[in-house]
Amino acid sequence: MQNSQLLDIAADFGSPVYIYDADIITSQYQRLTSAFKSVDQVKINYAVKALSNISVLKLMKQLGSGLDTVSLQEVQLGLAAGFDAENIIFTPNGVSLQEIETVAELGCQINIDNLSILEQFGTKHPKTPVCIRINPHVMAGGNTNISVGHIDSKFGISIHQIPHILRIVENTKMNINGIHMHTGSDILDIDVFLYASEILFETAKNFKSLEFIDFGSGFKVPYSAGDIETNIEEFGEKLSKRFNDFCEEYGKPLTLAFEPGKFLVSEAGQFLVNVNVVKQTTSTVFAQVDSGFNHLIRPMLYGSQHGIRNISNPEGRERFYSVVGYICETDTFANNKRISEINEGDILAFSNAGAYCYSMASNYNSRCRPAEVLVYNGEAHLIRKRETFEDILHNQIEIDLK
Ligand SMILES: Cc1ncc(COP(=O)(O)O)c(C=O)c1O
Repeated sequence: MQNSQLLDIAADFGSPVYIYDADIITSQYQRLTSAFKSVDQVKINYAVKALSNISVLKLMKQLGSGLDTVSLQEVQLGLAAGFDAENIIFTPNGVSLQEIETVAELGCQINIDNLSILEQFGTKHPKTPVCIRINPHVMAGGNTNISVGHIDSKFGISIHQIPHILRIVENTKMNINGIHMHTGSDILDIDVFLYASEILFETAKNFKSLEFIDFGSGFKVPYSAGDIETNIEEFGEKLSKRFNDFCEEYGKPLTLAFEPGKFLVSEAGQFLVNVNVVKQTTSTVFAQVDSGFNHLIRPMLYGSQHGIRNISNPEGRERFYSVVGYICETDTFANNKRISEINEGDILAFSNAGAYCYSMASNYNSRCRPAEVLVYNGEAHLIRKRETFEDILHNQIEIDLK
């Protein structure tokens, strides 16, 4: 998207605002599927948690994607967006048996990641096919909060507990139709993926009625021009070959599944903010914007470094700025970053704002959440209204204090 188009959107819909480019989502989807073109059955289940706006989900459906979900509400959003239940996989962690049963009744593919629920669910619903999330004990991911496949992680059933799983399957006669892992997010090294995949293949041999193997996600996307990223094409070539060989060995064609979030939507998103104050201190020049970690928490939570451009003055002389928000705690987006000269009232554009940005936004400091806009076929569509004070008060109940 050109700066002029972004500025027009900020003028039309106000600031701060999230903007998503449908063309980028589409090309990322096509890039991923084409990297695995030598596998007959490939299933992409978009991870709804990354960006869950219903219009984005409808775009995913149009592209041919299924959905990966982690809550009943994400499932309901997917159904509302027109997905068939069989194209939705439910991969929760630590939810109640009751929630899993509700989703199973809707017809979604269930993925279970602990022995207790596996046994309870298998005993009550032996006929419902279940996928099992394995913890391969691999340390992967760009930050400890998003490294989820290691030995101390709460996710998945340990590969050392395969005998326990088999005992439950034997006792309940349940049908295990899929095997799954997700080791973390922002994994750069494809050898880590391939290593973990071997563990999954080895595990898969224990289950005779598999229909799919789900390799999760975690592809590293670039955060600026020239930044490192997962080489998806090389990974596709290597894993496809290994997957096809495994299917031969297994004796039946299986579906290769992925559940990408960031890869599909991260780079498609830009977050536009307005500069309220330029504040010169003894050592730093702060650009204080009309947002904070209430709208974009990733820099504070994961140390993520989003690109920041001054689209109001793109040709200006570069200077060093610390870009911060208006929250009553430290909410630094960037420290001493080179940005073209900023004046109060300028619009800054944060890149990689598609994944885990709006979906992690809150009303902290009683601030309203921003609007969301999808640029589809070159046209800007408002896909979520900016919240108002009425939304903040909506569920609050005033009691009569005597
Ligand atoms: C189970 C599972 N699958 C898929 C994803 C998506 O990962 P990413 O956004 O890195 O592609 C996540 C992210 O947290 C996850 O927990």
